[in-house]
Amino acid sequence: MELSLTGRTAIVTGAGNGIGAAIAARLVAEGANVVVADINLENAERQAEALRRDGGKAKAIKVDVVKEADVNAMVDETVAAFGSIDILVNNAGLTRDMRITKMSEADWDIVVDVILKGSFNCTKAVLPHMNERKWGRIVNISSRAHLGNPGQANYSAAKAGIIGFTRAMSLEAGRNYITVNAVAPGIINTDMIRSLPHWEKIKENAEKTTPIPRVGEPEDVADAVAFLVSERAGYISGDVLHVTGGRY
Ligand SMILES: NC(=O)c1ccc[n+]([C@@H]2O[C@H](COP(=O)([O-])OP(=O)(O)OC[C@H]3O[C@@H](n4cnc5c(N)ncnc54)[C@H](O)[C@@H]3O)[C@@H](O)[C@H]2O)c1
Repeated sequence: MELSLTGRTAIVTGAGNGIGAAIAARLVAEGANVVVADINLENAERQAEALRRDGGKAKAIKVDVVKEADVNAMVDETVAAFGSIDILVNNAGLTRDMRITKMSEADWDIVVDVILKGSFNCTKAVLPHMNERKWGRIVNISSRAHLGNPGQANYSAAKAGIIGFTRAMSLEAGRNYITVNAVAPGIINTDMIRSLPHWEKIKENAEKTTPIPRVGEPEDVADAVAFLVSERAGYISGDVLHVTGGRY
C-alpha cells in the first residue's frame, strides 16, 4: 500500500528513544521530513543523525512538551526547516508507578502533565498550520492502561484522558480535513518497560497469555501510526487503535 508520505513533515515527540524513535524511523523511510523531538537532546541528535546517515530527512529538536514556550519554539523551528507541519505524533510519556497511598503529588503531576498537558500544548501549536493547509494527521499515543492498572493511577488516568482529548480534537479539527486518532499499545519492548523490576516475569506472562504469544516491538506500533498518518486513513478519525497482540 502506497502511504504517500513523501514530502510531508512530521513532529514526533519523545522520539529520542523507544516507540517514538521507531515511529520517526518508519515515517522517514516513507519519505517524510521528521522532527525528532525529545527532552533528551543527546538521544534525539543520535536518532536524527542515524536517520540522516540512511539518507532520510530528520532534525533533532530539544523540547519539554510541558512548557508552552518550548513547544512554540519547536513548531517555529520545524516550519523554518521544512516549511510546514502536516503530522503530529504525541508520543512523549513516562511512568511513576506506585500504589496511590504511596504516590506523591509530584509523581501524579509529572505523569499527567507530560502526557496530557504535553499533548494539549503540541496540538494547540500545530493546528493553525494544519488548518491553513486543510490537511493534517494527529496521533496520540495512549496505552492499554487506559482500562486501569493497579499501581498506575496517574498513568491510567492520563492515558484514558488522552482518549477523551482525541475524541474532542477530532470533532474540532475535522472540518479542515484533519484526522485525530489514538493508538493504544500493550506491552512493548522498550526501556520504559524493561526497567520495571519484574520485567522478565511480565514478558514470560505476556508470552503465555497474549493471543499473539509475544511482547510487542516498537515497530509494531510504528506501523499502526504510519497507516493512521497516511493519505490512506483520511476518513478515520476519533478512533482508538489497540496494538496489543489481541490482549485488549
Ligand atoms: N513501552 C510500552 O509498553 C508502552 C505501552 C503503552 C504505551 N506506551 C507509551 O508509548 C510512549 C513511548 O513510550 P516508550 O516505551 O517508547 O518509552 P521511552 O521511555 O523509551 O521513551 C519515552 C521518550 O519520551 C521522552 N520524554 C519524556 N518526558 C518528556 C518531555 N517532558 N518532553 C519531551 N520528551 C519527553 C523521553 O526522553 C523518552 O525519549 C509513551 O507515551 C508511553 O506511555 C508505552
